[in-house]
Amino acid sequence: MNVRSFLARKRQGKKISMVTCYDASFARVLNETEVDCLLVGDSLAMVIYGYPTTVHATLEMMVRHTEAVRRGAPDKMIIADMPFLSMQQGKAHAVHAAGELIRAGADAVKVEGWKGIEEEIAHLVQAGIPVMGHLGLTPQFYYAFGGFRVQGRDEASRTYILEGAGRLEALGCFGIVLECIPSGLARVVTERISIPTIGIGAGSDTDGQVLVLYDLGGVGLEKPFRFVRRYAEVGLAVKEAVDRFVEDVVEGRFPTREESFEDE
Ligand code: KIV
Ligand code: NA
Repeated sequence: MNVRSFLARKRQGKKISMVTCYDASFARVLNETEVDCLLVGDSLAMVIYGYPTTVHATLEMMVRHTEAVRRGAPDKMIIADMPFLSMQQGKAHAVHAAGELIRAGADAVKVEGWKGIEEEIAHLVQAGIPVMGHLGLTPQFYYAFGGFRVQGRDEASRTYILEGAGRLEALGCFGIVLECIPSGLARVVTERISIPTIGIGAGSDTDGQVLVLYDLGGVGLEKPFRFVRRYAEVGLAVKEAVDRFVEDVVEGRFPTREESFEDE
């Protein structure tokens, strides 16, 4: 998968699958799956570092984790998130940040929103850096939105998303993530543009779907959002495994002779 085959998928009517990944161990697992692309999302600020929002993801964090994911998944298309405010400090800053992510192993970068950053997006595209857009519930706008809430329900928000999708396509983006918007709006956006839409909490009519790996795998124990489907309970499995380990240690059942070294 690369930017060209990604774009071709829409014409072929073949859905695109994407999951987030932040580290080399999971990247090695995902490299063996059929998933089309990996997203080093700035959600790592929350999932990996425990911050309340994604505004805490720094360029340094994004670079480190992108390098780790690339080492683990040499064969996958990797998209890395441009962190909070990296597009709002001018073209030179934006292209520097995006360049670091590409050098770290990303094939493309993803940016949230569109108003006020159109020149920067065009600059990245002209520099040969593939850019994916992200509209709807863009988590870097947490404070502006007054929390994590479904977008595109009122006319102003709907217009912002519809207009933005057209602008992002015109600026040369190769795809757009649509997050937490009504399914009907996601369908309209998907029909109006010729680049693929990747939905999360945006219904089934987008050109592809993305989920946070820790959500779909149940790594965290908290109750998932409505738009998440849990395919495994990894967190519960690890909890049970560790409790069994502790019991074995306490009871002296671990380690056995086979699990130990003897004198020659
Ligand atoms: O950071 C992230 O995980 C994302 C996806 C949810 C689209 O941006
Ligand atoms: Na993100």
